[in-house]
Amino acid sequence: MKITNLAGAAPLAVLALCLLCSGATARSVLDDLNGLEDTVVDIGVEPAAHSIFKRSALVEDIMGPLSRNVRQVDEKTRSMLVYHHMKILHSILEMLLGGNPRVDIFQFINWDKTIQIDQLFYVKPKTVWEARRVILAARRLGMHVRATGAGHSRSPLYVDEGNIMMDVRDLQRHDGPFMELNQERPGRDFKTVTAMTGVYEVELNEFMTKEGVAILAQPLNDQETLGGMVAASTHGSTWSAPTYSGIVVEMRLLDSHGRLRRFTKEDHPMIMKAASCNLGMFGIMYDITIKVEPTFVVKAENRFVRLGDLMLNKDALRAQVTGSFLTEISWFPFNKISDAAAEEYSRTGAIPDDWSAADDTVWLRTINRAQQSEYQGQTILGPSYLPTKGSLSGGNVTGLLRGRGAIDIAKKLSPKSFHYLVNAFPVILPPRWGTETSAAFMLNIDNSFDRVYRAFNFMISRSEQQIRDNGTTPMNALLPRFFQNHECFLCPGNAEIQMPNDSGRTLVIDFLAPPAQQGFYKAAADFVEFFKNEKVRPHWAKRHDNIAGIIDHVKDVYGSLLPGFSEQKRLARVDPCDMFMNSYLIAIFGRSQSCY
Ligand SMILES: Cc1cc2nc3c(=O)[nH]c(=O)nc-3n(C[C@H](O)[C@H](O)[C@H](O)COP(=O)(O)OP(=O)(O)OC[C@H]3O[C@@H](n4cnc5c(N)ncnc54)[C@H](O)[C@@H]3O)c2cc1C
Ligand SMILES: *[C@@H]1O[C@H](CO)[C@@H](O)[C@H](O)[C@H]1NC(C)=O
Ligand SMILES: *[C@@H]1O[C@H](CO)[C@@H](O)[C@H](O)[C@H]1NC(C)=O
Ligand SMILES: *[C@@H]1O[C@H](CO)[C@@H](O)[C@H](O)[C@H]1NC(C)=O
Repeated sequence: MKITNLAGAAPLAVLALCLLCSGATARSVLDDLNGLEDTVVDIGVEPAAHSIFKRSALVEDIMGPLSRNVRQVDEKTRSMLVYHHMKILHSILEMLLGGNPRVDIFQFINWDKTIQIDQLFYVKPKTVWEARRVILAARRLGMHVRATGAGHSRSPLYVDEGNIMMDVRDLQRHDGPFMELNQERPGRDFKTVTAMTGVYEVELNEFMTKEGVAILAQPLNDQETLGGMVAASTHGSTWSAPTYSGIVVEMRLLDSHGRLRRFTKEDHPMIMKAASCNLGMFGIMYDITIKVEPTFVVKAENRFVRLGDLMLNKDALRAQVTGSFLTEISWFPFNKISDAAAEEYSRTGAIPDDWSAADDTVWLRTINRAQQSEYQGQTILGPSYLPTKGSLSGGNVTGLLRGRGAIDIAKKLSPKSFHYLVNAFPVILPPRWGTETSAAFMLNIDNSFDRVYRAFNFMISRSEQQIRDNGTTPMNALLPRFFQNHECFLCPGNAEIQMPNDSGRTLVIDFLAPPAQQGFYKAAADFVEFFKNEKVRPHWAKRHDNIAGIIDHVKDVYGSLLPGFSEQKRLARVDPCDMFMNSYLIAIFGRSQSCY
């Protein structure tokens, strides 16, 4: 342990020594596992291993003022107190970690700048040992730790201020390669891929294509990590395939004792039903094993159709969505206006009388399996991205005429191209920082597509209304998606959340705008209110937490699935004392009753 930076910091040294000496009371690290002892993966002896003990009263004192709720002080005073106490904790953390990994006090801002955390401890461990050391130090200090990947989430899934953010993207596997293809084996009659949680989808896709395998659904951007996508149940738009959470068969994670644990779907089906969408509450996921299929060649097609003929025509919509392997529909509002009308609008702000949302053009993108006769002699392409040069909903046009610019960019994509499956999914290449955020809400799809039609109609009419009344739009893009449900406690696409005449599929109403755009949040809140009695639920990783009453509503929709999740987490003994929780998740799930 490095203690050179202790010079002149005598009180800190005393505190640190006290923390170290209370290790004498450490208990055996296995005796809480009750039948799950075989989930512990032996990682050998860590150099300079630390023993386990509980939060000390001294640290309790330091941590006190960090909470926004504990002391009634104004924001500026609180901020200074936080920083002061963090400086002290920082020295102790540095001592406990011995310089590996290094720990910094950072301000954190997520990708689209909707979440800002003034001060947190940031670590980016490279090895399982370093990651474990962080957990043991946090445990000693009674601090919370949460993992992050790319930081693409737009909701409070990050660690609370004053606690430890563990960026997992540099973590290397200690007992195998970063990504690995596994053959069928007894009890598992399919191939799997194991990868570190910090891998980006784009890297995973290159690997899968090289190995001749594929997964059946993915989001439309490939700059997210495997851990982030599993933790938040990231979806695509494949009619008959579930989210990332639905293909997880095995997971290794570091629990709050710093133990590497291994859970499999075969041996621990109920724990995996919880772990496969865990919002970071199951510890630091280390590597994840997913089910893969033999890959195949698909044709991606881009068509441009009248909105009223697809989105507002229930039968055509159902035929399209149920008849394709994947269907993605994008509406960029106010795109069907003539050059003269656009010119007029630029000058006067006048909305042409003859414009209607139903006449706008929507971009219809489909993916279907290609017959060999179709792709014979054709080039099988890698991923091809929208040529937006760094914006999400397209183009450099601002204001209401953006919709026209966006559809013109989509029209630059080739009408038909052939790809190995995973290379057909990504189409958005996000810029380094986002200017548009996204809200997304899920609904059950009924066999007659009535709810899908009503959801579209609600959002489309609403945008049309605001465009007419105000000359502004609540959304720059409406991107509905459709995918298959499975059994999983926290997945929004959930086989146990049902409605009459259920298709077993979920509709995602996803829409984009800069966070401050007029009407964006109001549209989100009103949508939730309108579908309140139809079990509408948010995408966990998108903007939703600012909707009044959303937590109670989420509890209502998920019902016993939430305590079901917490019970499996308790039985798995991965986090008895809430190390991996934050205040938002505690508001939903409550505190653990099992801390000892
Ligand atoms: C441009 C863009 C397009 C998007 N498109 C889609 C889409 O098509 N479909 C869709 O469903 N979503 C989409 N999303 C949302 C995205 O899928 C989620 O936000 C996803 O979680 C992002 O992964 P990440 O690596 O950024 O994770 P982060 O945002 O960093 O983390 C997300 C959650 O995962 C947890 N986590 C991450 N790694 C670990 C780990 N190793 N151990 C434990 N917990 C971990 C974090 O604690 C957090 O709770 C999009 C987001 C953007 C910015
Ligand atoms: C916007 O993009 C178009 C096409 O990509 C380009 O021709 C034009 O010059 C750009 N305008 C500005 C102001 O950057
Ligand atoms: C269920 O959906 C099917 C398919 O559209 C439809 O024919 C049927 O009338 C629906 N049943 C009910 C009870 O709504
Ligand atoms: C139009 O804008 C005004 C304020 O600028 C706002 O009060 C009103 O609610 C808006 N109307 C719609 C339909 O968004």
